[in-house]
Amino acid sequence: MLFWPGPPRRPHLASGAAVINNPLRQLIEIYQVSVSEAFTAFLDSGLCDAPTSRVNWAANGIPHKGEIASGGTYQKLAYGLHINRNGQSVEFDFGKAGEIHEFDAFRLSQFWNENNTRSTFSYARDIEAAFNDAISNKTVRPTAAKHFELVDPLAGDNTPSSTTDSEATMAPPAYGSGDATYQAAGQEAGVRQLVDAFYNIMGSSTAYRSIWDMHPNDKPNDREVSRDKLARFLCAWMGGPRLYKEKYGAISIPGVHAHLAITATEHDQWLACMSEALERQPYSADFRGYLLKQLAIPAGRIVIACKPK
Ligand code: HEM
Repeated sequence: MLFWPGPPRRPHLASGAAVINNPLRQLIEIYQVSVSEAFTAFLDSGLCDAPTSRVNWAANGIPHKGEIASGGTYQKLAYGLHINRNGQSVEFDFGKAGEIHEFDAFRLSQFWNENNTRSTFSYARDIEAAFNDAISNKTVRPTAAKHFELVDPLAGDNTPSSTTDSEATMAPPAYGSGDATYQAAGQEAGVRQLVDAFYNIMGSSTAYRSIWDMHPNDKPNDREVSRDKLARFLCAWMGGPRLYKEKYGAISIPGVHAHLAITATEHDQWLACMSEALERQPYSADFRGYLLKQLAIPAGRIVIACKPK
């Protein structure tokens, strides 16, 4: 896995598996999504490609400080990046092969402290305690780069990631790893089918009238453009090709919604509509649940971005 632009690893737990302290998992998932979004914005600035290893990153010769094209600044660290954008600060180190899903207790505490994630923990010391518990019960494990990653109990994979390559390649890829989510969604055709169902349901049900009416509809093809934009965005978000950027350029999801009046009501409508659309796809219940849970993360951040200032 080189570049990880989409949702974090599958969060469902097998019965009998150790259950990670929920606030910690929530914090890790918010952190991973923020890292992914910040790194995507950084890459979209065209300064360099995603590194194929942390050593490759250290030697890439980009300026140590600079600006991000879509807004914000970055600071290059020896093996990682610190990015400030959209009022959010996030710092991470690359994994051995350039992965961006790894974390440690320090980075999580720093992220919690600097951003609007107070709801997950009341005190920094609680993060450390929860992290130590997660190490003890093996719900997180060390990586080859001496960070940590979530263990996915459904994959039946409790071996450290530093095991041999042949062992690693035998394990089925977890959603959120590489383009596994994109493949499970049926690639571009599958994603477009999902988005068509989503907007067909939204346009035909009075339950979703208020979010339907928020969408642009002045020009004859506005509705088609909305479908195209969401489908292209979701392809990249799921780890597939970056089709949105190819056609429309860089995007910040909270940013493109900030002018709208999206509260908990619209948030719930959007997710309910998506849930209905997912029901109509040939996906497993496990995958549907996974996608809905991951979509709730950017949806929640949109509500925060739309709060009256
Ligand atoms: C929280 C509930 C949400 C509501 C009510 C909502 C509503 C909308 C509306 C009304 C637009 C059209 C904006 C305009 O053109 O002025 C839009 C655009 C868009 N939305 Fe959402 N949205 C929500 C959540 C999401 C989520 C969770 C995602 C992605 C995971 C998403 C992805 C997009 C994209 C890619 C666009 C097109 C942006 C552009 O290029 O202009 N939306 N959304």
